[in-house]
Amino acid sequence: MGCFKRSESAILLGFTLLIFAESVVGRFVVEKNSLRVTSPDSIKGTHDSAIGNFGIPQYGGSMAGTVMYPKENRKGCKNFDDFGISFKSKPGALPFFVLVDRGDCFFALKVWNAQNAGAAAVLVADDMEEALITMDSPEEVHASAKYIANITIPSALINKNFGENLKKAISGGDMVNVNLDWREAVPHPDDRVEYELWTNSNDECGVKCDMLMEFVKDFKGAAQILEKGGYTQFTPHYITWYCPRAFTISKQCKSQCINHGRYCAPDPEQDFSSGYEGKDVVLENLRQLCVFKVANETKKPWVWWDYVTDFQIRCPMKEKKYNKECADGVIKSLGLDLNKIEKCMGDPNVDSDNPVLKEEQNAQIGKGSRGDVTILPTLVVNNRQYRGKLEKGAILKAICSGFEETTEPSVCLSGDVETNECLDNNGGCWQDKTANITACKDTFRGKVCECPVVNGVRFKGDGYSSCTASGPGRCKINNGGCWHETRNGITFSACMDNEEGKCTCPPGFKGDGVNSCKDIDECKEKKACQCPECSCKDTWGSYDCTCSGDLLYIRDHDTCISKRATEVKSAWAAVWVILIGLAMAAGGGYLVYKYRLRSYMDSEIRAIMAQYMPLDSQKEVPNHVSDDRA
Ligand SMILES: *[C@@H]1O[C@H](CO)[C@@H](O)[C@H](O)[C@H]1NC(C)=O
Ligand SMILES: *[C@@H]1O[C@H](CO)[C@@H](O)[C@H](O)[C@H]1NC(C)=O
Ligand SMILES: *[C@@H]1O[C@H](CO)[C@@H](O)[C@H](O)[C@H]1NC(C)=O
Repeated sequence: MGCFKRSESAILLGFTLLIFAESVVGRFVVEKNSLRVTSPDSIKGTHDSAIGNFGIPQYGGSMAGTVMYPKENRKGCKNFDDFGISFKSKPGALPFFVLVDRGDCFFALKVWNAQNAGAAAVLVADDMEEALITMDSPEEVHASAKYIANITIPSALINKNFGENLKKAISGGDMVNVNLDWREAVPHPDDRVEYELWTNSNDECGVKCDMLMEFVKDFKGAAQILEKGGYTQFTPHYITWYCPRAFTISKQCKSQCINHGRYCAPDPEQDFSSGYEGKDVVLENLRQLCVFKVANETKKPWVWWDYVTDFQIRCPMKEKKYNKECADGVIKSLGLDLNKIEKCMGDPNVDSDNPVLKEEQNAQIGKGSRGDVTILPTLVVNNRQYRGKLEKGAILKAICSGFEETTEPSVCLSGDVETNECLDNNGGCWQDKTANITACKDTFRGKVCECPVVNGVRFKGDGYSSCTASGPGRCKINNGGCWHETRNGITFSACMDNEEGKCTCPPGFKGDGVNSCKDIDECKEKKACQCPECSCKDTWGSYDCTCSGDLLYIRDHDTCISKRATEVKSAWAAVWVILIGLAMAAGGGYLVYKYRLRSYMDSEIRAIMAQYMPLDSQKEVPNHVSDDRA
């Protein structure tokens, strides 16, 4: 059987712990980032460090800090508070990176203790000369699992020699400054990021399963946006193990495997006599793979995220609903083709390969820059293993840093991955506090000052010292920054949509248009309404003028005239009505005449034509002729 490529001894170690196959002889690639010492001069230079498998790395970014080596509790296994040690930095100072020694306790505990004491990052100095390894979180110690989920600071392992140099410089009284740089942690060859998640449908494996499920739920929205936009190509994967040939008929293999021991998963409860069996998990994993395949064939690969999250909610093991019946209900509700999925899954009882699972087992083996997949869950971005906490923001950062700058999709520039630099002094960008508008935009690469678009109105400017609304609708926003005032239900505004960036007081007002426009007293300042019969009264934005006696005020000419003038006008109007009436009568007569002439000529021509050739409306022709000649 071709699938027996791996070391069989690993599997022989214990069926009950098939999945925790850390002893599998595999190739595990350590993800490195660079650690640059910027001072003192004596140890300046760039060194490799291995990113820890927990905490939140700042993909696409970098972080500067001062290295501190505690005088006590140097391995970081105890609470730093007990020693009165704090790593909180003063405002404005560089944050502290704490250097601790390897040994005595879990890596994660060291990082947790340092984080609690205020550290911004942790460097663990190796205690022996060896190649860098990845610091993983302890798999099975449940007491520690509780804090792992709360580790938010990044951590890195450095080799022994480099650690010694750092310690020497610190004890010599030097200020040691370093830069942790994740910029090149994810290669970005094109404008599409390929990523895969190695996952598991088992929902009862404790903290790790809970974290994975939370992540999938949380990340679904972003994943679907990225996939629908064609920015990413996502592929889910499922790890299975095989049962060594000698054991295929054993009870353990029968309960944990399908296809005669070819594809196995550990028993969820690690109890063969009760609850769900390993093969139930394998079957659901296979179903989820087939859901992806079928959805992908219909060009809707993102439906996988819907299926997986719906299945988690509707078919949990706890409620004894983790079964085919429940799964089929979810499939139907998502409009997927159930027959196709069943065909893809094949028969789990046959003694032959399942092409889908076979492919998965082959994919588990590392290729290129990616090592074997042995840890669940594993996220691979652009063929590099992701190291760090499975957390939406962190993973979006990792994916987003896989795009060339400027080709990243807008989710990469959204709140999910923001650096919160805008919270600090508005990031030094322009803002209009009264209108609640800012030019500061948080992105995963840091903040940018960019004039915003608010309610469809574009702001223009440098983004730092000025942004002004421009184009249609600009007056709707904060009145375009111009003066406006309402009195007795009448509003005057100094903003005009078509006047880019200008504020001009409306007629009847004077002023700068921005802060104020004052009513003009037309009676005094404009000398309006000054004729002998006129009497002037100023109003807000205009004036009223009345004439004495029987006279009428003509605003255009600013004068009073006798009402007789208007009588003359109405006489003229009567003349006009008569003239127009005559013209229309003449025009109508002409049209009638023309129509008569044309229909007469038409029938004449038709009659002549009919003598030479048959027309298709023969009957009409003689009629017309006779009518007209009668
Ligand atoms: C981790 O964080 C959660 C909520 O943020 C909190 O309820 C829990 O107590 C924390 N765990 C530890 C060990 O601090
Ligand atoms: C999904 O579909 C795309 C093309 O539509 C194809 O390139 C890709 O290999 C498919 N993935 C799987 C796992 O079938
Ligand atoms: C306006 O500011 C308030 C806080 O003062 C904030 O809650 C709100 O989201 C802001 N609105 C916009 C549109 O920015």
